[in-house]
Amino acid sequence: MTHETKPVDALSEAEARAELERLATDLARHDAAYHTHDAPVVSDADYDALKRRNLAIEARFPKLKLSESPTEKVGAPVAEGFGKITHKVAMLSLDNAFSDEDARDFVSRVKRFLSLTPFDELALTAEPKIDGLSLSLRYENGRLVSAATRGNGAVGENVTANARTISDIPEQLAGADVPEIMEVRGEVYMTKADFMALNERQAAAGKQTYVNPRNTAAGSLRQLDSKVTAERPLKFFAYAWGEVAPALPYGTQSEMVAAFGRWGFSVNPLMARVMSVDELIAHYRRIETERASLPYDIDGVVYKVDDLGLQQRLGFVSRSPRWAIAHKFPAEKAATRLTAIDIQVGRTGALTPVARLEPVTVGGVVVTNATLHNAEEIERLGVRIGDTVQVQRAGDVIPQVLGVVSSPPDAVSFTFPSTCPCNLQTPVIREETAGGVEGVVRRCSGEFACPFQRKEHLKLFVSRKAFDIEGLGEKQIEYFYDDPSLPIRAPADIFTLAERDAAEDLLKLKNRDGYGETSAQKLFDAIEARRTVALDRLIFALGIRHVGETTARTLARAYGDWQSFHEAARALAGGDAAAIEEMDALDDIGPAVVEAVGRFFGEEHNIAMVEDLVSQLTVQDAEKPSQESPVAGLTIVFTGSLERMTRDEAKAMAERLGAKAAGSVSKKTDILVAGPGAGSKLAKAEALGVRTMTEDEWFELVG
Ligand code: IVH
Repeated sequence: MTHETKPVDALSEAEARAELERLATDLARHDAAYHTHDAPVVSDADYDALKRRNLAIEARFPKLKLSESPTEKVGAPVAEGFGKITHKVAMLSLDNAFSDEDARDFVSRVKRFLSLTPFDELALTAEPKIDGLSLSLRYENGRLVSAATRGNGAVGENVTANARTISDIPEQLAGADVPEIMEVRGEVYMTKADFMALNERQAAAGKQTYVNPRNTAAGSLRQLDSKVTAERPLKFFAYAWGEVAPALPYGTQSEMVAAFGRWGFSVNPLMARVMSVDELIAHYRRIETERASLPYDIDGVVYKVDDLGLQQRLGFVSRSPRWAIAHKFPAEKAATRLTAIDIQVGRTGALTPVARLEPVTVGGVVVTNATLHNAEEIERLGVRIGDTVQVQRAGDVIPQVLGVVSSPPDAVSFTFPSTCPCNLQTPVIREETAGGVEGVVRRCSGEFACPFQRKEHLKLFVSRKAFDIEGLGEKQIEYFYDDPSLPIRAPADIFTLAERDAAEDLLKLKNRDGYGETSAQKLFDAIEARRTVALDRLIFALGIRHVGETTARTLARAYGDWQSFHEAARALAGGDAAAIEEMDALDDIGPAVVEAVGRFFGEEHNIAMVEDLVSQLTVQDAEKPSQESPVAGLTIVFTGSLERMTRDEAKAMAERLGAKAAGSVSKKTDILVAGPGAGSKLAKAEALGVRTMTEDEWFELVG
């Protein structure tokens, strides 16, 4: 639905010829940027859209097909040559702060969790956030034995041979205090000067130049031939660790990093240890001032709680530690022309307008698209097609349009469509809030009938956090979906491919980018390997609104097995008050989730989809985090004022011990831990005959 791109059916022969030539040049450029330089200039989705358009034009005008057509090209080799390494301790990411206020909130949150008053001192470290890629180095008895990239956080690529070529990475650690097993983690990066010198050499040799140091460092570390890596000037800063045995040698972050320095690593000289949030922010300002003159790129400042005992108590939320945060530098901005506005339909049917932009470099990355969020935002910005606009990019988030810089007389206003851009042209509706106020989001009302929504749901279904099927990702779903002769239209279809003997259909995918090497059998095997699925993954994969991976895990742990969850969800959809109350009482689950689950399981087509799917699967019962603990599997409620721990800490502790921490007392509650001042919950527990205990008794019980 690009307003400047004609439908293929409407192209004249001359237009088709010109466009095929333009597409061949663009695709060749994108191929080189992606495969050879690890520096893509367009998103995968945009790239695929170009390829599909090329195919469609060739299909309509076969005689115009160029001899060097992009469709004939086999994708460049992907880095398949690295072995995998499973991280003994997951490599996590950091939560972000974008303002001083966020930084203050972080410190307050930490203090609250630890039951400190705002006036209690808390030692923190602040250090630059290096814009490179993280690497985990494993030393056994002081010798480097392996090096792994972060990968998906759980499993990374084995890049040991390449890491050995980096002079900042010692082969042998020096020091009597080096633990027998010591995984040192940090950032691989390239300095700005080395990056520029490398580009000069490339240019002098008539070769392509690179886009930015970060992507170049990533590309260099992931070279299959370590001789190539050795020629690239990579560096490494050590700042964290993974597995350490028999024990951590020091009790603070700052002592650990100082030890890394003595053992032979480079450590960042701008790391400071401070005692207050004001000093923390002052150090942020100092690093921000020095940023431009530093020899390497940084994108923020990382704050960490210094005391490792406190870090342990704080633990993790989802994928990031509670004891650290990255305070990012403000987003970078640039101006460019907005050439078109397209409508994208998401998994939940939301219609999102996307600005197509003339390519512009913002903070080292070429930006060609930006989100416009919704119709109100377009109106608020007053943006029209043809305007020059200011765009902003911050970290990995989607670039945004900030406002109009100038508007030529021939700029065209955008009319928000009243029907879905799919072939069904389903009417678009605006949701109303509880108070009857019209919401800003426009949704296609087609739900599962809408091809865009089905496609987006399938993408979620196969994604890493859901079914995670090797060789079946977003790109492949696009292929499958856009060609109606191919056999995946709904999740269950994935699991019947082999029995329907779809191998021949799959052959059609041969030679399409990303599918060249995948044999049908390999895909069938990968699918078979996922036929047994964990309950939380299944719940997440259903794509119920408001049910993300954390909520899915909570639901899985609470209901234990598929049948219980399914029955509860169906009962809830039927308006069963006990079922509603039971789900609502779960910790971290609010009315929005309960309503969404009810609505999902109240729709006939969803029920059919789920039944077809589950009949193909073996669903594993939810994992109980710690089976040994005396409270594993029990539901605990904390009430009253606790004296030895905060409420958040108590809940986190219960969950660590395999229990479920609930917010309200019901007949499902096993134990109520009541501190002084406990009121209605204690009364209700006593009325229901629920076991109650004091905080001290709780500690006696769990040890
Ligand atoms: S600490 C448990 N410190 O940022 C988290 N990370 O968003 C341990 N990074 O994957 C990470 N500089 O690649 C830490 N001084 C620093 C860092 C840093 C860069 C990267 C790292 C990590 C990402 C998290």
